[in-house]
Amino acid sequence: MTPATSLRRRLVEWLLPPLLLLIGISAAVAYGIAVQVATRAYDRALLDPALAVANHLNFDGEVPVLDLSAAARDALLVDTIDRVFISVVDHDSRWLVGSHELPLPPAVGNEPLFYDARLPSGPRVRVVALPVLRDGVRVALVLAAETQVKRDRLVNETLAGVVLPSLGVAVLAVVVIWLGVGRGLAPLLRLSEEMHRRSPRDLSPLPARDQPAELQPLVDATNELLGRMGDALAVQQRFVENAAHQLRTPLAGLLAQTELLAREPAIAADPAFAALRERVERLRAAAGDTSHLAHQLLTLARADPREHPADRFARFDLRDLGDELAQRWVPAALARRIDLGLELESAPLLGERWLLLELASNLIDNAIRYTPEGGVVSVRTRSVDGRAQLEVEDNGIGIPAQAAGRVLERFYRIDGTPGEGSGLGLAIVREIADGHGAEVEIGAPEHGRGTRIRVSFPAPGAAADGR
Ligand SMILES: Nc1ncnc2c1ncn2[C@@H]1O[C@H](COP(=O)(O)OP(=O)(O)OP(=O)(O)O)[C@@H](O)[C@H]1O
Ligand SMILES: [Mg+2]
Repeated sequence: MTPATSLRRRLVEWLLPPLLLLIGISAAVAYGIAVQVATRAYDRALLDPALAVANHLNFDGEVPVLDLSAAARDALLVDTIDRVFISVVDHDSRWLVGSHELPLPPAVGNEPLFYDARLPSGPRVRVVALPVLRDGVRVALVLAAETQVKRDRLVNETLAGVVLPSLGVAVLAVVVIWLGVGRGLAPLLRLSEEMHRRSPRDLSPLPARDQPAELQPLVDATNELLGRMGDALAVQQRFVENAAHQLRTPLAGLLAQTELLAREPAIAADPAFAALRERVERLRAAAGDTSHLAHQLLTLARADPREHPADRFARFDLRDLGDELAQRWVPAALARRIDLGLELESAPLLGERWLLLELASNLIDNAIRYTPEGGVVSVRTRSVDGRAQLEVEDNGIGIPAQAAGRVLERFYRIDGTPGEGSGLGLAIVREIADGHGAEVEIGAPEHGRGTRIRVSFPAPGAAADGR
């Protein structure tokens, strides 16, 4: 999965902006509330020294005089965190006592007034202006101020108390999405692994059970597609099979007629027909090749593993093919003066007899055809560790290592291969081997030149699972 289309990434991208917006809004609300709470709580405390000073104001006639010992005044100014300032001004705002620095309120009524200000020396302060009334007339103003350290601290702590857990929730959400999507997608990954593992010819439906409901439509659609592909392939297969089958009879007739023609005494004997004889011979060869092609096509179509479910295979010994193979191939070998040897040991397996006969026949056909006259071809069957093996070895022209992968393809013939051939023999071998869960190994004999092709079947106890 590329990062651009990662579901995880997209979910996180969708979720994070609203989550961060939410955190931003809650931080703003928390800030507002924190400021209010801090202001209300500390303003009440700030009023206390102002009231204490107001209570100790005596009046010398009209002039207010602060009747407070220096020690008591210092006690009022004590605060462990903030700096506290107090001053008293008269009704005309003339400074009487205390700090010079405190800024006067914008306007004063008869109630205490709280306001924010900045001292000329720099720090921000919260100030309360407490009017002192005598007979309902304001005669002085007590100002008490403190720096804003503990207020800021309270606001910051409240803000952190709200924002940090929210950020934690956001991080947790991302982690949960990351892990959750991974877990949620696990069945999908399992499914794609299963599809990767499959052989290309396996069109059986994907397991529909134990899939999450969200995957069900995909599984159903894939299975429907697999089903339709299977049907289309079957139709195509049946067409090839029918066509090859239909071609066989007229081709056999054609072959028979050309053979008769070639043996026609007038043509066969008369020197005047030498040129005609050559043409008839070519006709006979072409009819033979075409008839062989039709046979190979038909065998290939019928060898399709889907037509032969492994559960219908019967127990069978490769050695038992010996007589039939000898009967079929000894004449061809003799015709080419090839020493065809059968070394047959017991090799039990589960399989379909006529398919295995076709497989062996195609290997022997190649060995005889692609070995010069006077060569040696050995056919061996044996059982190694319970696995049946069929081996056909010749000392002919050999298959170059770089062509070994391709000769199993349909219609592939190595350039310069002598004689005519349809290029389907080894494709048939592979098809049948696949259907039996067997492996085909193309190599050379241990000594000297030539070809050795070995087909290893699964032990009869193990199911054929190579399809
Ligand atoms: N024993 C062998 N020795 C040398 N070359 C071989 C041997 N077996 C197969 N080949 C090469 O592999 C090619 C493919 O073989 P395959 O049996 O599929 O086709 P074919 O023999 O040409 O045609 P068909 O078997 O359909 O008549 C052959 O054309 C030949 O080039
Ligand atoms: Mg062949």
